[in-house]
Amino acid sequence: MKGIVFTEFVDMVDNQFGMEVTEAMLDRVQLASGGAYTQVGDYHHGEMISLVAALADEVNVPVEQLLIAYGRTLFDRLVAVHKVELDRFSGSFDFLQQVENNIHRQVRKLYDNAQPPTFEFDSVNASTMEMRYHSHRGFGAVAEGLILRCGECFGETLSLTRTPLNEQGTEVRFVLERG
Ligand code: HEM
Repeated sequence: MKGIVFTEFVDMVDNQFGMEVTEAMLDRVQLASGGAYTQVGDYHHGEMISLVAALADEVNVPVEQLLIAYGRTLFDRLVAVHKVELDRFSGSFDFLQQVENNIHRQVRKLYDNAQPPTFEFDSVNASTMEMRYHSHRGFGAVAEGLILRCGECFGETLSLTRTPLNEQGTEVRFVLERG
C-alpha cells in the first residue's frame, strides 16, 4: 500500500496523541519495514492493521473509531497532495462517483502497484446514495471517515450507515443520506 497512507497515519497519531504515543505504538509491533515510512514507498497493509491494533491498546480507543478518525485526516491530505479542486464538483455524491471513475483510476495509472478500492453505485438521487466498497484490505471504516470528511468539506449534513457484506469486510455497503 502506498506510503502516504502510512505517513498520514503516523502524523495523525503524532498530532492527536503526541510523539510518545507514536513511539510506544511502534515499539509494540515488529514491523518488516522498521516503521520508517516514506510517501513514495510501498508497505504491506498488514502493517497498518498491526499499528492500529497497537494504538488501540495504547490509548484504549476501539480500532474502528481510530480508523474512522484516520480516514477523516487522510481525506484532507489526499486532496492537498493530489491538488484536487473540490469546487469543480457539485457535492459529495458527485465527488464520490468521480473518485471511482476518475481519481482512483488515475492513481492506478500513476503507480503500477497501487490497488485503491473500487466502488459500485446502486442507487443515487439528490438526497440518498447507496454505494458498495470492494477491497481485499477491508478498510471500510477508513472509507467511512473519508466519506464523512468529504461531506463536511462540501458543507453538507451527511449521515451514513455502513454494513459489511462479508466477514472479512472486503465488501461493504454504505447508505448515505444528505440533509
Ligand atoms: C481526494 C481524492 C482521493 C485520492 C487522490 C485518493 C487516492 C488514494 C490512494 C493513492 C490510495 C492508496 C492506494 C494504494 O495504496 O494502493 C487510496 C486508498 C484508499 N482510498 Fe482513496 N483517494 C481519494 C479519495 C477517496 C475517498 C473519498 C474515499 C472514500 C470512500 C477513498 C477510499 C479509499 C480507501 C478506503 C483507501 C485504502 C485502501 C483500501 O481500502 O484498499 N478514497 N486512495
